[in-house]
Order: sequence, then C-alpha cells, then structure tokens
Amino acid sequence: MTKPYYITTPIYYINAAPHIGHAYTTIAADVLARWHRSRGKAAYLLTGTDEHGQKIEDAAKAAGKHTLDFSDQVSAKFRDLWKHLDVLHDDYIRTTEKRHEDKVQELFSVLLKNGDVYKGKYEGLYDVVSESFVKESDAVKGPNGVLLGPDSGKPLQKLSEETYFFKLSRYGPKLLEHYKANPGFLAPSHRASEILRFVEGGLEDISVSRTKVKWGVPVPGDSDHTVYVWFDALINYWAAAQGTNLWPADVHIVGKEIFRFHAVIWPAMLMAAALPLPKKVFAHGWWTVEGAKMSKSAGNFVDPYDITVEFGVDAFRYFLLREMPFGNDGDFSKASLCKRYNAELANDLGNLVSRVAEMVDRFLGGKLPTKPPLDADFYTTTVAKRTPSISAKMDALDFSGALDEVWEVVRALNARVNEKAPWKLAKADMRACELVLFDLVCSLRLVGGWLDPFMPATAAKIHMQLGVRVFPEALTADDVLQGKDRGAGLIQKGPILFPRKQC
Ligand code: MSP
Repeated sequence: MTKPYYITTPIYYINAAPHIGHAYTTIAADVLARWHRSRGKAAYLLTGTDEHGQKIEDAAKAAGKHTLDFSDQVSAKFRDLWKHLDVLHDDYIRTTEKRHEDKVQELFSVLLKNGDVYKGKYEGLYDVVSESFVKESDAVKGPNGVLLGPDSGKPLQKLSEETYFFKLSRYGPKLLEHYKANPGFLAPSHRASEILRFVEGGLEDISVSRTKVKWGVPVPGDSDHTVYVWFDALINYWAAAQGTNLWPADVHIVGKEIFRFHAVIWPAMLMAAALPLPKKVFAHGWWTVEGAKMSKSAGNFVDPYDITVEFGVDAFRYFLLREMPFGNDGDFSKASLCKRYNAELANDLGNLVSRVAEMVDRFLGGKLPTKPPLDADFYTTTVAKRTPSISAKMDALDFSGALDEVWEVVRALNARVNEKAPWKLAKADMRACELVLFDLVCSLRLVGGWLDPFMPATAAKIHMQLGVRVFPEALTADDVLQGKDRGAGLIQKGPILFPRKQC
C-alpha cells in the first residue's frame, strides 16, 4: 500500500475546554489532509489529547474529579468539537492509552540502554503552565523578586529532585547537519532561523523524569519516577503509527510556542533511537482576540461553538485560514469575521453562485448546452490555468495565499457576469447566452473544487447547484454499471449559501 501523507496536530492538554487556538491548528491540518485527498492521494490525520503531568493532575483535583474521569470528559469535548467542525481525523490518540504508554516505555528503555538517558539530580525552576524546565537566566523577575515563567508569566516552582536526563547536548551538531541538509524540515523560515540560533548556542541535557508527579508513565524499572510529560507526549506521533507504514510523519503542524520541542528535542530523541525523522515541522502563529492575548485571567477565550452557531462552520473555517497567513500572528474579532463573511462569502461567492444558477434555470430551463463549439474561447481555460499555482501554495501550507488566488478568480467571474450581461443576451442571442453561462458554470465548478478542503459543506452545495452529480435520481444498477452516474445533472437553484449578517 502506498504510504499515506501523514499529518499530525499537537495533542492538546485537557486541563480546559478547547478554544479557537486549538480549532485553528486542527482545521488547518484537516484542510491539508482534505487537499491531498481531493487530488486522489491518501492522507492520514492524527490528533488527540495530552493527558499526563502535573497540570492535569492539578486541574482534576480543582474540579474534584478522579484524574482519569476528568481526562475522559475533557478529551471527549475535544473529540466532539472536531466532529462539529467537520474535521475528518483518521485516528485520535490519548496518552493514557496502553498503545501509547507501551511505546513511551519502549523508547525510554532504548535510550537508557544506549546511554542517552542517565540518572542525575535536577536543581532548578519549573513552569507548570508550559510544563517546562526554565533556566534561571530566562526567568522574569516579578513583584517581590518572585521568578516568573517567560511565556506564562506565572510563578515558577523550585525543584530539587533526582531525575533521569536525556543527553540532548550530544545531538547539537547532528541536528544542525540535518537542518542544513533538509532546508524544508523547519518552516516557516523566520521561525527556523530562531531554532538554528538556539541550537548553535549549544544544547544542555534535559531532565526527562519526575519523582513528584504521579500522573504519568512510570520509568521502566524505576517506579519512583514518571516520564516527563513532554518526553511522553512527543512519542504519540510515532506510537500511533505502529503496525502501519505511516512513519515518518510528513508534517507536524504546531503552534509557535511549542516549535522548540518539535524542532529540537523530538528529532534528537528520534536520532537517539535510530528512528527516521519527520519530513517537516511547521510552526504557525498565534491568534490574539480583539487585540489581547487569550488568558484565563482575561476570560477572553473564544469558544468555537459560539462563533459557529452565529456564522456556520464553513465561514469559521474559511475565516481562520484566510485572515492570517499561516506562520504569522493575527487578531480574531467578530467584527472582522462578520466583514469578511458579508463581503467575501455572502457577496462575492454566494451571490455569484445564486446568480449563475438562477440564470441557467430561468433562461435555459436548468440545462447546459452539451456540445459547445471546440474552437470557442472559454474563460474556463484561463481559470483552470490557476490550478498549478493554487496547488503549489496548498502544498507549501500557504492557505491564505491559495484563498487569495481563488478570490481573484471569484471577483473576475463576478466582473464577467456584469460585462457579458447574459440577461441581455437571452433576449438578443440565445446561443451566446448559453455559451456564457456554460463557461461560468464550468469555472464555478473549478472554484468549488478548490474550496472543498476549506469549506466542504459549501463546496458540496455549490456542486449540487451546478449540476455536478455523482448519483442522479432514478438510477438503475445497469445505469451505474454503464457509468451513467457520472453524467452532469441539471443546474438547480438552491438556498442562499451565506445569508447576509448584520455586523
Ligand atoms: N500538550 C501540548 C502539545 C504536545 S504535542 C506533542 C500543548 N497543548 S496545548 O493544549 O497547550 O495546545 C497547544 C496548541 O494549541 C498550540 O501549539 C497551537 O497549536 C494551539 N494554540 C493554543 N493557543 C493558540 C492561539 N492563541 N493561537 C493559535 N494557536 C494556539 O501545548
């Protein structure tokens, strides 16, 4: 079997409910997977939840729940959201599953055996929010000299405990070699250069076990220790690929704040275990909300359910990938979503589809001319020429760039409707009217195809209205066997795709 294009999202912490940040990464991964599938390739999308560690233990305690019950509940919330957002994932891994825990122990044992993991003592600072060890020099001084996490801004814990270390220091030169030999490994390039500088600065060994945290995978042969939650979590990508030909992953999609774990520690772990490295790690940027960072204290987490109730799932998916270039930071606000919804979805796209379907319905009784003259100059050929460039952008995870290009076409088609005025042609020259409409329908079918990974339900409606039928009504088995189900159906007006909103 050919190896599917294997895409992963981070596995999400389950200390709190999902918000638009999580939705963003997962939708992007789904768009990429659907894009590959739409070109007839196999794609495989993995997502899941990260359930061990101190943060989860604390959150369950605060909720008055047993840790596993708590994990079950929140993990299910993530799973439900993906279903709601039309995300087609092929697997959903939880770090509390045996298939994952076994692989964590296996990899840990390999590294212990070859000397890449050794026992020592960790004295230093720990940030529970990001579940990471923090160098004294990176900590921020807060009020009364309290040391705070550089990203979380929360007080750091002082740890002094026996621990197992991973010999990350050994892998600096090999990592640099790998980055150099594989320029596409880290993306986008501005974030890759940060990683390069970091590794060139020299790597230190990292602590990979905790004695104080009970909610974790026991270190093989030393049950006083549990495996450090990040060391544990990263292994999910490989654990989920067991028994398949999926590994190595084609792309890990992550947020910028966890790029280092994926670009430095994870590849070093794989090198230590002599396993193949993923082909690419892509770090996208962060959303702020109405200009502010999302945080518990600000209480400004955006709930994807609230937004989709108001604007629909497809508009939400579209907005997230159109508004900010993948890799950059951006700001989410209802006002900008509403503006794009009305201007681009309701006006540019929705209106165009309605107008064209309506005209074919009214002037041609819903039927397209079957045999246009071969020498006719069809705009559809110009539209089709866009495909290689849109494909290249999709392959490079430049989702907003691809959508920009699709919208150039949508706008050009709108201009064409106005310029050709089929309603005038219908009175003066019916054949000319038919050909213009034929051309518009064909062009819009291409647009529907390009939009399918982003807005699957909308694309299906567009194709339905524009006569792309896989199963026309009243087929017999003989019809299907003779391939008659592949013929084009009638053009039918449908409900408005995006009713205008009051912004
Ligand atoms: N459990 C770790 C990941 C382990 S992967 C082996 C973790 N989980 S998390 O729940 O905190 O999710 C982090 C991810 O959520 C980010 O990498 C990013 O994909 C997404 N986002 C969280 N907040 C975000 C924004 N404000 N904006 C965009 N994406 C963000 O880290």
